[in-house]
Amino acid sequence: MKEALESIRSVVRQQLESVKDLKELDNIRVKYLGKKGELTAILKQMGKLSAEDRPVIGQLANEVRSDLEHFLENTSEKIKSQLQDAKLAAETIDVTIPGKTAPMGYKHPLSIVLDEVKDIFLGMGFSVVTGPEVEKDYYNFEALNLPKDHPARDTQDTFYISDDIVLRTQTSSVQVRVMENQKPPIRVISPGRVYRSDALDATHSPLFHQVEGLVVDKGVTMADLKGTLETMVKRLYGEDAQIRLRPHHFPFTEPSAEVDVMCFHCHGEGCRLCKGEGWIELLGAGMVHPWVLQNCGIDPEVYSGFAFGVGLDRLAMRRFNIDDIRLLLDNDMRFLQQF
Ligand code: DAH
Repeated sequence: MKEALESIRSVVRQQLESVKDLKELDNIRVKYLGKKGELTAILKQMGKLSAEDRPVIGQLANEVRSDLEHFLENTSEKIKSQLQDAKLAAETIDVTIPGKTAPMGYKHPLSIVLDEVKDIFLGMGFSVVTGPEVEKDYYNFEALNLPKDHPARDTQDTFYISDDIVLRTQTSSVQVRVMENQKPPIRVISPGRVYRSDALDATHSPLFHQVEGLVVDKGVTMADLKGTLETMVKRLYGEDAQIRLRPHHFPFTEPSAEVDVMCFHCHGEGCRLCKGEGWIELLGAGMVHPWVLQNCGIDPEVYSGFAFGVGLDRLAMRRFNIDDIRLLLDNDMRFLQQF
């Protein structure tokens, strides 16, 4: 009887190792501890034991029963927690991976265009960096030559967390962070969300997206800027796409330019799409202002650089003929399913 008890204990322990669901577990419970179970049968015979054997075997039998109950309970807990984990894993959506294609096979238009832009610049030896959306006034404005009383701050009014902390209005803030931490040569792009206190309509949103570009090295010129942007535009819109640089002012670049792309619809003739211009404004760019380099501890006598900032929402809207920026933020499946 002693051997029978020991063997039940080890067999059950083994069987429990490979149990996969609660039903299988219950079958084992019944097989040993049920009314007609193997252990129950042994326990019923205790009365027949000699007075000498009874205390020893009886104690062992009780031990085996409590071990079995214990194993069954532990295994049941384990299975339940595995089931729970599997359920949670199936329900989880990783919201930190914007570029991931949804399980249904859709990809957000902004992610499609951003992935293309990343591909283009990774191919030219750039790396991708990010910076905080809740940003110090210093990085968003001050270090970029936009002191507190600068009139150019008016066009970039934002949401203030405190006097010195804002929701960033431009990804240009990342330029400063990169230059503070990295020695030239620098070649980075930095995509991300930006905020401005604009009213929401078809073409404006208090939340939109930019991709910043920054190159700093010895002997970098405006020609490098133009060549880089031309490459981007041709890759995005086709080999026949053309750009032009118009003089402009940004406090953090000198000289500065706005960059237009020739209207794809009328090829420069002037039409409704380009409002008769023949060209469509695409982005802001320029040579990094010597003061900005200096603010970041880079010697402007030795190094020069170019920078640009392009609106990702605009790129996506133009690319997919989307006429309302709100569609990019609404998460309406009827819209998203088209991509
Ligand atoms: N940050 C500018 C904006 O939001 C765009 C821009 C212009 C970025 C010139 C740059 C630049 O890096 O050099 O309007």
